[in-house]
Amino acid sequence: MVRSVSAALTAEQIRDVNTRYHDVAAHEYDAKWGIDFGELGRSQVSAKVRKALGREAVAFARSLEIGAGTGYFTLNLLAAGMIERATCSDISPGMLATLRANAQRLGLQVDTVRVDAERLPFRDASFDLVLGHAVLHHIPDLDRAFAEFARVLAPGGTILFAGEPSRCGDRIAALPKRLACTLAPLWRRAMRARALPAEGEQAADAWLEGYVDVHAFAPHELRHAAQDAGMTDVRVVGEELLASWFGWINRTLEASAEPADVPWAWRQYAYRGYLLLQALDSSLLEPQMPASIFYNLMLSARKRAHL
Ligand SMILES: C[S@@+](CC[C@H](N)C(=O)[O-])C[C@H]1O[C@@H](n2cnc3c(N)ncnc32)[C@H](O)[C@@H]1O
Repeated sequence: MVRSVSAALTAEQIRDVNTRYHDVAAHEYDAKWGIDFGELGRSQVSAKVRKALGREAVAFARSLEIGAGTGYFTLNLLAAGMIERATCSDISPGMLATLRANAQRLGLQVDTVRVDAERLPFRDASFDLVLGHAVLHHIPDLDRAFAEFARVLAPGGTILFAGEPSRCGDRIAALPKRLACTLAPLWRRAMRARALPAEGEQAADAWLEGYVDVHAFAPHELRHAAQDAGMTDVRVVGEELLASWFGWINRTLEASAEPADVPWAWRQYAYRGYLLLQALDSSLLEPQMPASIFYNLMLSARKRAHL
């Protein structure tokens, strides 16, 4: 049983808030999260897939992404040749509109469908891969969603989810965020950046953010969610510790200032520092330490070939 972070809203309200929040976020989403659809994006996403599977991946013939957002995972995997035919789903029409625009710009072919992860409008055994990035923690009834993932997956097919917040990692990350809030006025002075007014759209955005994230996971909870849906070869690993602390400090500082005032040199430092620490996490910490202490969890599993 997965413990819920936000118990104040009903499941229907959580889905509604998620739709509205992500519709509003869709225009600025790629810029806010530094989402890349070039060489860097392809290599980051391909590396995450290898890490989640624990091996090199063969190309998947038919994929379905859940909560695909603006297309970070699927579009990069299509471009890298790791997916042959892709369907992207999301509860937010705004996110899917941005995804279609990204696909068109990149010259990639993808079907898009507006759906709730708990009710998939696809026939049984339609896909060889069901995947998602940073989506499970938004879904109110995970047992129902995993039952749907298993149903639409062909026998022998794979599920793969990455970028899910770990409960312990989430708590630890609160410290750098708090530190950055305290340092923000000093940092803005050093950068000669104006403060962003905490009124209006920004404040509404921050308020909604508290309601869209409904879970943070312990590794065994993700494992059980897959096992209870009848999946086998279940694997849960953690990723990013130093990189996530560094990233949260920088993002919190940057979010306190007018975006146009944040110097280019600072953005370069934040970007290169993040990549460096990500490589350190991956080579030194992730092979040695328990999954639960990392900021993100990854899950992969397989549907039995014959039931
Ligand atoms: C944090 S964003 C991640 C987007 C994208 N996967 C990425 O990594 O950039 C979460 C996405 O899940 C979608 N979402 C939230 N609740 C959902 C639900 N119940 N069913 C389907 N998608 C949902 C949101 O609309 C949003 O696009």
